[in-house]
Amino acid sequence: MYNLFAPAHQPDRATSPPALFMTQESPCVSILLIDDEAIALDLIAHGLEREPDIRLRYDARSEMAVALAREVAATTVLVDLRMPGADGFDVIRMLRADPATEHIPVVLLSSEDDPSIKVKAFATGANDYLVKWPDTRELLARVRYHSAAYVARMQRDAAFISLRLSQEELAASQSALHQAQKMEAIGQLTGGVAHDFNNVLQIISGNLQLIKLLGGVSEKAHSRIEIALAGVERGAKLSAHLLAFARRQPLQAQLINPGQVLFDMGDMIRRLLDPRSTIATDIAPDLWSTMVDANQLNNVLLNLAINARDAMTAGGTLTIRAHNVPAASALLADAGKQHGPDDYVLLEIADTGTGMEPAVLQRAFEPFFTTKPTGQGTGLGLSMAYGFVKQSGGEIVLKSEPGVGTSVKIFLLRSQAAAETVEEAAIEPLTGGQETILVVEDEEDVRRTTVELLSALGYRVLQAAHAGSALSLIQSGIPIDLVFTDVIMPGETSSLQLSVAVRQYLPDAQVLFTSGYAEGVLAHEGKVDPGVNLLQKPYTPEILSTRIRQVLRQRKASV
Ligand SMILES: Nc1ncnc2c1ncn2[C@@H]1O[C@H](COP(=O)(O)OP(=O)(O)OP(=O)(O)O)[C@@H](O)[C@H]1O
Ligand SMILES: [Mg+2]
Repeated sequence: MYNLFAPAHQPDRATSPPALFMTQESPCVSILLIDDEAIALDLIAHGLEREPDIRLRYDARSEMAVALAREVAATTVLVDLRMPGADGFDVIRMLRADPATEHIPVVLLSSEDDPSIKVKAFATGANDYLVKWPDTRELLARVRYHSAAYVARMQRDAAFISLRLSQEELAASQSALHQAQKMEAIGQLTGGVAHDFNNVLQIISGNLQLIKLLGGVSEKAHSRIEIALAGVERGAKLSAHLLAFARRQPLQAQLINPGQVLFDMGDMIRRLLDPRSTIATDIAPDLWSTMVDANQLNNVLLNLAINARDAMTAGGTLTIRAHNVPAASALLADAGKQHGPDDYVLLEIADTGTGMEPAVLQRAFEPFFTTKPTGQGTGLGLSMAYGFVKQSGGEIVLKSEPGVGTSVKIFLLRSQAAAETVEEAAIEPLTGGQETILVVEDEEDVRRTTVELLSALGYRVLQAAHAGSALSLIQSGIPIDLVFTDVIMPGETSSLQLSVAVRQYLPDAQVLFTSGYAEGVLAHEGKVDPGVNLLQKPYTPEILSTRIRQVLRQRKASV
């Protein structure tokens, strides 16, 4: 065995894989010579040692041809025709049968100058045929020609592969862009519809509640009112889901410990699942806290658990996981948040259910997309989860495989402060008061219903159809205890300016905002600033009266 001309300072070259070898700027010629007689080495090597770009490796073991060709990254194989054991034809067949060596040019060396043997050699797959012993110059010219053709072919193949890969990447990023644009367009449409729908619902429910409060309706009419109110509630839920998807839901973010939220939900999820299913929890200790709307997060997790239950009708395992994810984690790159400075907390709900086909997975976040029978699914669960997470500055990643299961990962931004304990505001029965309330609302029907409702509860009520006239009332010096104002109204003065004026002219008064929409004036990216009192439309008299009492109590506490 000889290894000739392999330059001492490039020891790796002989073992580099062909692809690496091909990428070198001036490709060198790597010849593998296989002959049972060692004299062949002297005869072939003679005259080649002066060629700096030529490496020659000799070996007598013809049955090792494939391994040797790979080892030296051969660009041409010179092989003797007549050998004991595997002969030249066998070597050609072996090289052609292996994908790593199938295209390496093979030159047969033979002492027989017989046309029929030459024909057979080419038919077997030889690229050339030389009668022993060829002139060195001719040998050199042929070997260089075959090597160059081989290198060019390999480079062309590599270029095609890389072109195909970049075309695939381009197609994938175009499809992701298309998907994002589609979600954005559906979001704008659903958000707009839900906003108007909330005002309509407020009028219907307000008036139904007033009829109830004013009394004098028959038992039959009363039950009709209850049915209509149940319809309003359904409508309100639908519209809340649509707003959530459109990322326009008024969110009351608070600092929470997500592990605690998951822990508190454990019992409910257990009751939800088929008794044959098991729950595995993997909640890391010392979880970071995050700033999100806890009620909405509960809602999202519940929806994910219901989806998991529906996918595991014959039982399975539901895994609830929570981990800290530092900014440098590869998990974030997976979620499209690589190289950012932020840490996240990961919440994951995974099931071993039916999983989703790619066509379902692709559309799962779309509102109203469902594969469940009519009456069993509205197709809003995942869309509201998507909207909520995005609006909260997080990321949601859905992975699913048919027959294996589904995992939903939610990444929420880490918050540096420690979580407070969440205090559920209990809804109290209808209570009135004698304070003075200024109602500011541009929709006349909504305003009238609210004014009548508050009057019926005993409050002294003032009203204004826009912020401008409310401002005059505030500046006039009339005593006012609470300003109940819509968030967006037409006109020059905004509801935010109104609240500034209240602080200036009526420092003891409180402001309670109401909206069916998360507005820029109150919120940053849909998150209502802490300290802002917001009541979401549509509201019931109980919720309105409870919030008014709560806000008025804040006033008493701060006075
Ligand atoms: N865990 C899951 N396993 C398998 N398929 C799922 C899973 N979660 C969602 N899907 C598929 O995605 C679709 C949309 O889910 P989504 O939660 O948005 O709506 P839904 O469950 O059909 O109805 P809704 O949640 O409004 O009651 C489902 O109909 C189902 O085909
Ligand atoms: Mg669902």
